[in-house]
Amino acid sequence: MARLLVTGGAGFIGSNFVHHVIKNTDYQVTVLDKLTYAGNRASLSALPEDRVRFVRGDVVDSALVGELVGASDAVVHFAAESHNDNSLQDPKPFIHTNLIGTFTLLEAVRAKGARFHHVSTDEVYGDLPLDDPARFSEDTPYNPSSPYSSTKAGSDLLVRAWTRSFGIAATISNCSNNYGPYQHVEKFIPRQITNVLYGIRPKLYGDGRNVRDWIHADDHSSAVLAILERGRVGETYLIGADGEKDNKSLIELILTLMGEPANAYDQVADRAGHDLRYAIDPTKLREELGWRPRYGDFTRGLSATIDWYRQHEEWWAPSKAATEAFYSRLGQ
Ligand code: NAD
Ligand code: DAU
Repeated sequence: MARLLVTGGAGFIGSNFVHHVIKNTDYQVTVLDKLTYAGNRASLSALPEDRVRFVRGDVVDSALVGELVGASDAVVHFAAESHNDNSLQDPKPFIHTNLIGTFTLLEAVRAKGARFHHVSTDEVYGDLPLDDPARFSEDTPYNPSSPYSSTKAGSDLLVRAWTRSFGIAATISNCSNNYGPYQHVEKFIPRQITNVLYGIRPKLYGDGRNVRDWIHADDHSSAVLAILERGRVGETYLIGADGEKDNKSLIELILTLMGEPANAYDQVADRAGHDLRYAIDPTKLREELGWRPRYGDFTRGLSATIDWYRQHEEWWAPSKAATEAFYSRLGQ
């Protein structure tokens, strides 16, 4: 598996994955990325040019995808429209990239025979009650809530169908909420960090009781690599690191770590259809593949992430004003 094609490799998790692969393997990587508002070429700038090739293009471009898949041993598919709030305003790009894009890749993989790993989300399972210890497992029925999560659920089902009907060599992973460097400022953690850095009060949706299960993007990357190299073809693996936190506690922790009063935030309009709680049972991944997260201490990982945003204003500042203008139109 010497030649990897990584779709969406200029995005948040895709770029963390490319950094992880370059550091921990001797693979050659080709990144295919459209550079939408969420993609940033600078996230890959420190990497060796003789091992990472960048191709700007759309995953629905079947000629380009066929050519790149044909020159690869394996494909790791991160490219997606990824933000729930955007999907509630305009679902169309989510249908384009998450459904038609995945279909296009699957057809190329079927024709060319490369190994395929599909990166997906725990949101395909819907949400869990707050007052219940239950967690998502590989057997939880699909029940997505938003246009974003429904297109991810649809893309997972396409992968399963192409595996069963056409015998492609695919695996799927469904991961919980990621944090770490190179995450767009539209997402919860970087939005609040960069708000504090700009003297804007952090914004909490609704009452903030909603729970997310946080994992560092480098731990997500090591899990995807383990599944790609040692996972059983045809299987799904859930990825999580026992990181449950409610949004209110997390916003208070960010403020405290940044030296601000814990209550210096605003409560704003809630998200439509806001999922209550996500939580992953990662037993299969841990027992079958022996995977363990490296970022066990969430507060340390969060502090390092805050430092990264302090030190890389040139990376995120160009997106900040447009992101806040979008939210202010929504009353968020
Ligand atoms: P992101 O929005 O930061 O990055 C997406 C990347 O895909 C960008 O570089 C963008 O330019 C590229 N892209 C979008 N449309 C494209 C197209 N049509 N053709 C080619 N490239 C295109 O997303 P992310 O947060 O890094 O998420 C990556 C993947 O991981 C997604 O599939 C997402 O569903 C999944 N995931 C994300 C999380 C999370 O917490 N962020 C958790 C679990 C799973
Ligand atoms: O669970 C995995 C999913 O995690 C991924 O599939 C998605 O791609 C990723 O965006 C993320 O989805 P969420 O909707 O959970 O992430 P987001 O960062 O948008 O929001 C996290 C929580 O914080 C959610 O409950 C909404 C809330 N929130 C968000 C923002 C941007 C706020 O309270 N205030 C905010 O300003």
